[in-house]
Amino acid sequence: MAEKKFYLTTPIFYPNAKLHMGHAYTTTLSDVLVRYHRHFVEEKTYFLTGSDENTQKMVDSARKEGKEPLVFLDEIVDKFSGLFKTLDISYDQFIRTTDQQAHWPGAIALWNKLVESGDIYKKEYEGLYCTGHEAFITEKDLVDGKCPDHGTVPERIKEENYFFRLSRYTEDIRKKIISDELRIVPATRKREILSLFDEGLQDVSFSRPRKADWPQGLGVPVPGDDSQVMYVWCDALSNYITALGYGRDDALYQEFWATNENRMHVIGKDILRFHAAIWPGMLLSAGLPLPKTILVHGFITSGGKKMSKTLGNVIDPEELLSEYGTDAVRYYLARHISPFEDGDLTREHFKEVYNADLANGLGNLSARIMQLAQTHLEKGTEPEWAGLPEEYTRALDGFEVNKALEFVWHRITLLDQKITETAPFKVVKTDLEAGKKIIFDLTQELYRIAQLLYPFMPEANIKIKEAIIANKKPENLFPRKD
Ligand code: MSP
Repeated sequence: MAEKKFYLTTPIFYPNAKLHMGHAYTTTLSDVLVRYHRHFVEEKTYFLTGSDENTQKMVDSARKEGKEPLVFLDEIVDKFSGLFKTLDISYDQFIRTTDQQAHWPGAIALWNKLVESGDIYKKEYEGLYCTGHEAFITEKDLVDGKCPDHGTVPERIKEENYFFRLSRYTEDIRKKIISDELRIVPATRKREILSLFDEGLQDVSFSRPRKADWPQGLGVPVPGDDSQVMYVWCDALSNYITALGYGRDDALYQEFWATNENRMHVIGKDILRFHAAIWPGMLLSAGLPLPKTILVHGFITSGGKKMSKTLGNVIDPEELLSEYGTDAVRYYLARHISPFEDGDLTREHFKEVYNADLANGLGNLSARIMQLAQTHLEKGTEPEWAGLPEEYTRALDGFEVNKALEFVWHRITLLDQKITETAPFKVVKTDLEAGKKIIFDLTQELYRIAQLLYPFMPEANIKIKEAIIANKKPENLFPRKD
C-alpha cells in the first residue's frame, strides 16, 4: 500500500510586529496535530509555515523604525524562527513571500492559469482600503468612520486594478462546502461561511499599482504588467502550493497536494472568508485540487477582552516561555483553549493551571513513582508498545487536542489514586516481591502516559521515558511557582 501522507499549513504571519499569543496558539495547535500524524499515525508529513511579507503595513512599520523594509523583514523573520524554536515547532519549511526562488514562480504560474481561464479582467475601482485587514471594507462596516477591528480610518482608493472573477465560482464552492468535499471544521464555521454564499460572492480586486515607496523585491509583479503587483491575499494564499514547488520543481506539490487526500489548513476565524471563498475560487479557476479540510479556531482573549496595549492585558509568549518553559506553554494552549471556540488566558490562570496540573500533577506523580523505583527496583525497563487508546485517537482525529489531553490527565489522576490505594511503600516492608511488582507496574503506566504526551509536551515525553529506562529520578520537571 502506498505510504499515507499528511500536509498541514499554518497561516503565514504578517511580519509587521513580533508574534503574539494568538500566533503562538495557531502554530502550537498545528504542531500538535502534525506530531500526532508523524509519530503515531505514521504518515509521511509535511508541515508548512511562513511569513506574509508583501504588505503595506510592514512597510509602514519599517519606516516608523527608520529601517529599510527588506532589512526590517529579515530581522522580524529571525525573531519568528526564534520563537518557533523555543516553542518546539517542528515545521519542515518556512516560506517567505518575498522569496523570488521559492514563492514567485508559483504565484506567477497560478496567476497565468487564472488569466487562461478568462477570470482576470481590468476594472476601474473605488473603495475603502483598510491596511490592518489588507482588504477593502465597505462603508457600512465602519464605526465613527473607522474600521472597528483596527481603529483606523481606511484609505479611499480610486485606481485601475485587475479583478478576479470569483462570482463565477459561488455555486461550485458552495456545493463542495455543503457536501464536505471541502470540509470546514467546526460546523458553526461551516454555517457561518455558507451564509456568505447566500448573497453570492463578489469579484475581488486582485492587484494594486506598484507603490513608489516599495523597494524592488517587494510585491509579486503581475505578469505582463510591471506597473502592478499582485494583491497581497492573492499572493499569500498561493503560498500553500508555491512552497511545495508548484510552477517550478513540483515533486513535493505532486506528493503532498495533487495526489494526497490529506491536506489541511489551520486558520483563525478572522481569515475564514479568504480561505473558504477566495482560495477555493482560485484553485477551481486554475483547475487544481482544493484543500480537504480547513480547521478554524477562535481567538485568545485575556480576562475576556482582546489583548491590547491600551488595556495593558497583553501577554507576550516569550515572557511565559522564559518563566515556565516550552512544555508548560504548549500544555496550556492545547488543554485550556478549545480549538473550536474563543479561549481565555491570564497570568493568574496560567499559574494556577501550571501548579495544579503540572507541578502538583504530572511533575509530582513522576517524582513519587521514580523515587520508589529508584529505591526498590534493580534496573529500569521499557514497556512494549501498547497501541493508542481509542479515546485519544478519536479526539485527535477530530482535532480536539484539549479532549485528548483531558483523557491523558484522567490517566494521571487514576495513577495517583493507584499509589494511594496499593501503598507500595508499606507493602515493601512486609512482602518485598509484591511491593516491587506494584512499583514496576506504576512505572509502566507512567511510561505510557509519557508516550501519549509526545505531541503536546515533547520535552517531558523524553525526560520521563529516559528516567524510567535508566531507573533514576527525573530532574524536577515543573518546579512549583509561588
Ligand atoms: N497574513 C495573514 C494570513 C495569510 S494566510 C495565507 C494573517 N496574518 S496574521 O499574522 O494577522 O494572523 C495569523 C493568524 O493568527 C491568523 O490565523 C489569525 O486568526 C491568528 N490570530 C491573530 N490574532 C489572534 C488571537 N488573538 N487569537 C488566536 N488567533 C489569532 O492573517
